[in-house]
Amino acid sequence: MADSAPIGVFDSGVGGLSVLREIRARLPAESLLYLADSGHVPYGEKSPEFIRERCRSIAAFLLGQGAKALVLACNTATAAGIAELRELYPAIPLVGMEPAVKPAAQATRSGVVGVLATTGTLKSAKFAALLDRFASDVRVITQPCPGLVECIEAGELNTETTRSLLRGFVQPLIEQGCDTLILGCTHYPFIKPLLLELLPSTVILVDTGAAVARHLETVLAAHNQLGDGAAITRFWSSGDPRRLAGVLPVLWGESGAVDYYSK
Ligand code: DGL
Repeated sequence: MADSAPIGVFDSGVGGLSVLREIRARLPAESLLYLADSGHVPYGEKSPEFIRERCRSIAAFLLGQGAKALVLACNTATAAGIAELRELYPAIPLVGMEPAVKPAAQATRSGVVGVLATTGTLKSAKFAALLDRFASDVRVITQPCPGLVECIEAGELNTETTRSLLRGFVQPLIEQGCDTLILGCTHYPFIKPLLLELLPSTVILVDTGAAVARHLETVLAAHNQLGDGAAITRFWSSGDPRRLAGVLPVLWGESGAVDYYSK
């Protein structure tokens, strides 16, 4: 039997829209609820305790709106908060994100893989476990990117400020022979055009949005919870709703109404 309840998706801000697009493309029959926690962005430099509190608050809200499943469209929130959410909501399908270390380790020819991610993701025990498991045969160079999420939140996808910040992050990776670069933060797919400009054409970019959408489909099917075609999308922001509404045409592909999430 089809389940027409929506899927709740959240991120610290607009980054999760890169994942929402993949979910919409893969699962056109699903209704989607998206919450941008832009009032508390960036998560990357915040404590795990703070992020866990945000995850609890947002998960309770989205489930209160009728969500049948939750997607943590944020590597940093997944690293800090998904284990606790699984304990709190054992019956709810929860899908998180992590940097795509396994596919990158398989793809590299130089044996050097770069990871762009937030400080929080790179410092997490979950990321250390991922490296132990999948990266024993390759050299992994991690690069935190403080300031980059703020540029993307401000809609500066192709400005000189963003370009020079990004150049500083990728240059050392290029110099060390990295030929495969993991985008370990859901904001970064929005600056792919800039990255392609700055990187040699031989460097492969790896991100996880499409894989997360595929995994979500598998999980919903296993729970007999795939949707029935009456797809709508609703948006909330804990920052300025007008700001999210303003970037939706570019980052989501169409405009939409945005409500304020005050908690
Ligand atoms: N988009 C988020 C991620 O995937 C976090 C960005 C941030 O708020 O620092 O890690």
